Amino acid sequence: MVSFRPSTSALTGTLSVALLVVLAIMPSFVAAHGRMTNPPTRYRKDATDPVEGNYPINGQVSRTMMSGTDPFICGGVTKEGSSVPVTEVNAGSIGLEYTVTAGHKGEAYFSISRDEESFANITEPFQAELGTHTIQGNIPDSYKGPAVIRWYWAADLTAPEIYVSCSDVLVK
Ligand SMILES: *[C@@H]1O[C@H](CO)[C@@H](O)[C@H](O)[C@H]1NC(C)=O
Repeated sequence: MVSFRPSTSALTGTLSVALLVVLAIMPSFVAAHGRMTNPPTRYRKDATDPVEGNYPINGQVSRTMMSGTDPFICGGVTKEGSSVPVTEVNAGSIGLEYTVTAGHKGEAYFSISRDEESFANITEPFQAELGTHTIQGNIPDSYKGPAVIRWYWAADLTAPEIYVSCSDVLVK
């Protein structure tokens, strides 16, 4: 007798293919978009997954960043709430690294602040490019001491997506 019920192995095969498709899509989602990669940025201590831990690579969360004011300046990740140690950097010329994993262009720049309220730009605005790149910046001597370096990127999409990330530094 011919049965039209799929065999268990055929079902398992279908599920495996579905799982492979999900796995193939996932990394690009998780790594999606862009953030500062050096100096290292804040990462939420209480995060349950990497997307949550490092807000700025998550498109949905990043969009909410700009609807708020101060709490979203650094993507809602505070210095106290971050597990990433402070990085020592020297005043003057500095190489600032970012990584973009989605091919949207759009203007980006780096800035610095002591209080996370008033920021001074430390690079010229530039067009973000796919991949990992280093941009030359300049930290004024007046920022010696604890400071925050911030990356800002307005990804050029039909609906604008803003990505920010902050790094806690000690300027020497
Ligand atoms: C920093 O540069 C951006 C991009 O050109 C500009 O929109 C912003 O006003 C600048 N911020 C300051 C504090 O000058």
